[in-house]
Amino acid sequence: MSDINQEVSRRKTFAIISHPDAGKTTLTEKMLLLGGAIRTAGSVKAKKSAKFATSDWMELEKQRGISVTSSVMQFEYQGSKINILDTPGHQDFSEDTYRTLMAVDSVVMILDVAKGVEAQTKKLFKVCRDRGIPIFTFINKMDRFGKEPLELFEEIEEVLGIESTPINYPIGMGPTFKGVYDRFEKRIEYYEDGEKAGTQYIEDYDQLQESLENVADQATIDQLIEDLMLVDEAGNEFDADAVKEGKQTPVFFGSAVSSFGVPTFLEHFLLMAPYPASRESSKGTVEPTDDVFSGFVFKIQANMDPAHRDRIAFLRICSGKYEKGMSTWLERTGKQMKLAQPQQFFADSRESVEEAYAGDIVGLYDPGVYQIGDTVCGSKDIFSFGDLPQFPPEHFAKVRPKNAMKHKQYIKGIQQLAQEGAIQVYRTPRMEETVLGAVGQLQFDVFIYRMKAEYGVDLVMEPLSYQIARWVEEGEIPNKLMHTSTSMVVNDYLDRPVMLFKNEFNLDYFKGQNEEIKLTDKPPRTE
Ligand code: G4P
Repeated sequence: MSDINQEVSRRKTFAIISHPDAGKTTLTEKMLLLGGAIRTAGSVKAKKSAKFATSDWMELEKQRGISVTSSVMQFEYQGSKINILDTPGHQDFSEDTYRTLMAVDSVVMILDVAKGVEAQTKKLFKVCRDRGIPIFTFINKMDRFGKEPLELFEEIEEVLGIESTPINYPIGMGPTFKGVYDRFEKRIEYYEDGEKAGTQYIEDYDQLQESLENVADQATIDQLIEDLMLVDEAGNEFDADAVKEGKQTPVFFGSAVSSFGVPTFLEHFLLMAPYPASRESSKGTVEPTDDVFSGFVFKIQANMDPAHRDRIAFLRICSGKYEKGMSTWLERTGKQMKLAQPQQFFADSRESVEEAYAGDIVGLYDPGVYQIGDTVCGSKDIFSFGDLPQFPPEHFAKVRPKNAMKHKQYIKGIQQLAQEGAIQVYRTPRMEETVLGAVGQLQFDVFIYRMKAEYGVDLVMEPLSYQIARWVEEGEIPNKLMHTSTSMVVNDYLDRPVMLFKNEFNLDYFKGQNEEIKLTDKPPRTE
């Protein structure tokens, strides 16, 4: 196998999705521990706290008990190179999450055994489903009482509309949780006093009964065997193709907090999850093993390290090999450029990248040249992976700095934070006032917080009662319609006129009255 084939075939790039509190941080941490990427339990949380101390805006995260950032972590496990992309759980940050999900090849969905499929899981799942990404399910917190496995399978099928197939099956739950039975490997993994207490291979259910007699009560054993027989007979058989197409989800049980079930999950997952996938582009299908390097920017984050004021563009490599010092071309501008000091991210460090392959995520220092959705090509024969999903803002507010002396920092902060894509910046045509647009209210709160923490600017924010933004594609807005009681016109950062409407009714009325004006909810693509 060639170098590139070999490297690509050992890469797994995935995201973990869940409703807040289901155990995403815990599961991530246990995986990193297994991979030797961190040494002590609690590091990811501890790191979170350490970051809070240095990066004030994350304080907001802590205060609200939510995760608003997404990060990338790489580690090796049993010969595989794993890239985990973290996704923010809060619904106001779904846009960032959506883009992150465009950069992965599979997804791990964590469900809390007591809560089953929750609201945020449903939303995130839908994005994965629409993209046909393979989804693996980890049912967590088996050390607590929760829903019965069969009930959970039914919920997954009914609420999410995906077939499920249990790879392992819990033996009891809560105080009577005794471990899992691995249907694939035909082995019992015992759980005792909050940790794994051995493995036993068995021939059949009679032997399963015998083996469990001294461990679990008879009612638990009877229920387990009854369920297993039912699943064997009437359940969905594991179907690798259906999993690959995102039509079936393999289900695992465990207790992330004690790491129980995590190694088994990871081992099965690494065998079942797909390698970096091929991607469609303007020049046709791009294979990960193609010689020519390519990738796209799915996330930009300013002030990753507040001490250095750096901005990082996250690039998902889609094909070929990155080598230090290589030349690339930015598709949007057609310009040749060197990738500046690409970095890779580990649990508690970043390192300069010597080489990277399809599937990897590298962070590029961004002096302001990248935009979300940019394609980067390794040859002059440039092509595009197409736009990433954009969601029109639904919340608007006028802002200005409290202290006019801070104007310079204010402009810089607005520009840099807008580039991350979480907020849109507009200006009113005559007064040149700043209007911000965001998909969720929380983004405004974070924005105010970060402007203060990272740029030292206090903001005055005046919410506006608009809910809809439409770019003017064709036609001119007559003067008398520039600002009415139900709409106003602003300009986006490229001076393209955008109409803000209070509601759908106002928008429809405007369209009915002004048929010559064409409006669109997607900003036209720009050079
Ligand atoms: P998230 O990133 O999905 O939001 O969840 P996180 O891992 O932070 O876990 C949320 C809470 O659930 C944490 O408790 C965590 O310890 C707990 N937890 C995670 N996995 C398990 C499990 O398998 N069993 C049980 N019983 N609990 C689990 P916390 O009290 O919020 O935080 P902490 O003080 O324990 O760190």
